[in-house]
Amino acid sequence: MDILITGAARGIGLGFVRYYIEQGHQVWACYRSDIGGLGDISSKQLHLLRWDVSCDDAPYGELPATIDLLINNAGIYGPGKDGQSLSNITSADMLAVFNIDCVGPLRVVQRLQSRLAHGSVIANISSKMGSSADNNSGGTYAYRAAKAGLIIVSKSMAVDLAPQGVHVITLHPGWVRTDMVQQTGLIDVSTSVAGMATVIASARSYDPGQFIAFDGKPIPY
Ligand SMILES: NC(=O)c1ccc[n+]([C@@H]2O[C@H](COP(=O)([O-])OP(=O)(O)OC[C@H]3O[C@@H](n4cnc5c(N)ncnc54)[C@H](OP(=O)(O)O)[C@@H]3O)[C@@H](O)[C@H]2O)c1
Repeated sequence: MDILITGAARGIGLGFVRYYIEQGHQVWACYRSDIGGLGDISSKQLHLLRWDVSCDDAPYGELPATIDLLINNAGIYGPGKDGQSLSNITSADMLAVFNIDCVGPLRVVQRLQSRLAHGSVIANISSKMGSSADNNSGGTYAYRAAKAGLIIVSKSMAVDLAPQGVHVITLHPGWVRTDMVQQTGLIDVSTSVAGMATVIASARSYDPGQFIAFDGKPIPY
């Protein structure tokens, strides 16, 4: 398969790159500004692209002619600690997180739509934090809203791209030990990635736009 992954220089994105290279696929790994952990991978299956999903600028590097799997993984959390409480969240923070976590995947799909192969899959990485049904603790305004927005955007993409033979799903990676959560979390990157890759491999057994956790369980939203 020809696979494109955004936000691939570290964390879950880098884990996906390692996983799919190991499986023998061609991987276009997109980094924002620094190649990070991608510099440690030596493989002819690895193709690097510089792509900051926060703006409409074209990616720097050669795009694949066709894409079988697109993983919209790039994301930010926004302010930590009390920075996203009702009293402290700012309009600028709301818009900055929304721009990357919700609009970013839309920009990527708009640019790549003509390259998506018939039978291809798009996996948009959201978060259970974007589930209204799961929100019993409040707060985290920017991240929750942006990831909820992505679930809805992903559902519309699923409807709109179905006639093109593209199947779109939305994933929750679990609570994963990466920089985003200061290496706290319940599972490591390889467990999360292996789980999500299994879901992706059987993507068509899920409804278009369905929201699914790394362990294959659908999440109400
Ligand atoms: N970790 C968890 O427990 C958890 C739970 C639920 C959902 N998620 C989601 O999983 C995805 C990956 O998260 P992670 O835990 O691996 O986070 P991470 O370690 O913080 O990595 C985030 C990645 O996104 C990239 N990125 C950020 N802004 C970008 C931009 N404007 N353009 C392109 N790339 C950008 C980062 O690039 P730089 O290295 O250049 O900053 C980095 O490679 C995110 O969408 C996150 O919301 C994570």
